[in-house]
Amino acid sequence: MIIGSKLYYFDSIESTNEHAKTLVKDAPEGAVVLVDEQTEGRGRFSKQWYSPEGGIWMSVILHPPDPSLISLIGGIAVCKTLHMDSILPGIKWPNDIMLNEKKIGGVLTEMVDKAVILGIGLNLNIREFPKELKTTASSVFLETKKHLEKKMVFSTLCRQLDDCYMMLKQNKAADLLTEWRHYTILLGQQVIIELPDKKIEGKVIDISRDGALIIMRLDGKIVRVVAGVCHLRKR
Ligand code: BTN
Repeated sequence: MIIGSKLYYFDSIESTNEHAKTLVKDAPEGAVVLVDEQTEGRGRFSKQWYSPEGGIWMSVILHPPDPSLISLIGGIAVCKTLHMDSILPGIKWPNDIMLNEKKIGGVLTEMVDKAVILGIGLNLNIREFPKELKTTASSVFLETKKHLEKKMVFSTLCRQLDDCYMMLKQNKAADLLTEWRHYTILLGQQVIIELPDKKIEGKVIDISRDGALIIMRLDGKIVRVVAGVCHLRKR
């Protein structure tokens, strides 16, 4: 098992992704940066990521043969880990971890030279969120009233990440996509994808071999979406 074979643990740093970037040259593949609290945690689109004690904030240094599907392994591994405790989150494309329609985790992948930093945030035992996040974000504890031991969840998560990463390394990307289809909450759902300059509305049909979302637009045309923010349409 390579993921977690080397661990850099801190009580508090700015951001595990930022710290991992400084280690890329020296750390072995699979090295993990783990912290109790991030003071400047970052989410996608340069948003702040609320990262107090109680969550799992980690970044993994990887050298994948093909980085295109790497971010999917974060979402899949988190779902598999929580499913083992009978907690059943799902994935909203690309990598939001959703439970009871609230976001309980996310994935931020960044490239440094040829390495990939796979950052994962899981709101595990957080008991309260700032007012502005309360309607959209939550934690495993708040949604289930279960307090899972952080160390146990972290070590299961490393195992699951390792399994998923091996699939990629062994050219079993098709199996990984099957896993994603199993855990996603989007297949067959009507969505709106927000892009910087437009919105795409339609029904989610599948995910492509390179991780793009495949959507049938309202006019019947099939399109691929490679980036953007996905909103489920309320019925
Ligand atoms: C998202 O916007 O959904 C992605 C959130 C990713 C947060 C994690 S927490 C660990 C790692 N370090 C960071 O600064 N961000 C990621």
